[in-house]
Amino acid sequence: MQILKWLGCAAVGATMILAASSAFALTIGFSQVGHESDWRTAFSKSMQDEAKAEGIDLKFSDANQKEEDQLKAVRSFISQKVDAIVIAPIVVTGWDQVLKEAKEANIPVFIVDRDVDTKDKSLFVTRIAADFNLEGRLAGAWLAAALKGKGDIVELQGTVGSAAAEYRKKGFEAVQALFPGIKTVKSQSGDFTTQGGKEVMESFIKATDGLKGIKAVWAHNDNMLLGAIQAMKEAGLKPGKDILTISVDGVPDIFKAMIAGDANTSVELRSDIGPDIYGVVKAYLGGKKDWPAWVVIPSDVHNISDAAEMLKKKGG
Ligand code: AHR
Repeated sequence: MQILKWLGCAAVGATMILAASSAFALTIGFSQVGHESDWRTAFSKSMQDEAKAEGIDLKFSDANQKEEDQLKAVRSFISQKVDAIVIAPIVVTGWDQVLKEAKEANIPVFIVDRDVDTKDKSLFVTRIAADFNLEGRLAGAWLAAALKGKGDIVELQGTVGSAAAEYRKKGFEAVQALFPGIKTVKSQSGDFTTQGGKEVMESFIKATDGLKGIKAVWAHNDNMLLGAIQAMKEAGLKPGKDILTISVDGVPDIFKAMIAGDANTSVELRSDIGPDIYGVVKAYLGGKKDWPAWVVIPSDVHNISDAAEMLKKKGG
């Protein structure tokens, strides 16, 4: 009888511990740039799905491409005393103060995707991100080969002041410098959106008498290129044939455009990186404190040779 009583108490105790354990789930605040592109939406989904799968209490905030909203979100995570903060910064500047506040509150910060320009690298644990400069160089190398080193091109830049736009541009230009025959005759920001890409391309078409003499478009992301493709087709031009295209991201619609013959090549930026990011955060909170300044996510190049396979892989 005594044993039965003891077993009963033990069972009640175990149930109470299990019920209470959800109160010990990791709470992570994630400040996301916005939902400006298909890549961004897929990245948010990866963060949300993986949080669910791992039992993480994710506080998700979409800043809608507004820097002030992003700073507000981070301050709210600090006041909620989350276990860790993950930030995908819109622009590189303006981070020092809020990162200092997180440090004073003893909350570790992880930078993901785009970079920050803060000099004091101890303000965050590490950055988990692809190499945007390499993406620009891969794009430049592909285009230099496709144009055999010669031809006028136009450029659609990403969000002004963002690491993705700045580093990709630099990487591309480093390769372009080796091919003086390739000249960028027009360059403007389309803010990483389909609509932005369409409007900028419409203005390029007007300013160059229907892209006269232009051999290619270099877009800092697929969505801007998809908008530019619409503009070119509406103007009776043939993107992917008369005007070559190169962009970054590898979203399902760019593979569809390749299959339709409207686009040529895209450098893939992996969006399924939720598991990689939480892996680092959990290891850090579990005691592994020594991280390199940058955990690099690899990038690669895709074109019509594997467009169907990539589309299938991405569920498109
Ligand atoms: O920071 C990564 C860039 O941001 C992606 O290439 C673009 O699609 C997104 O908006």
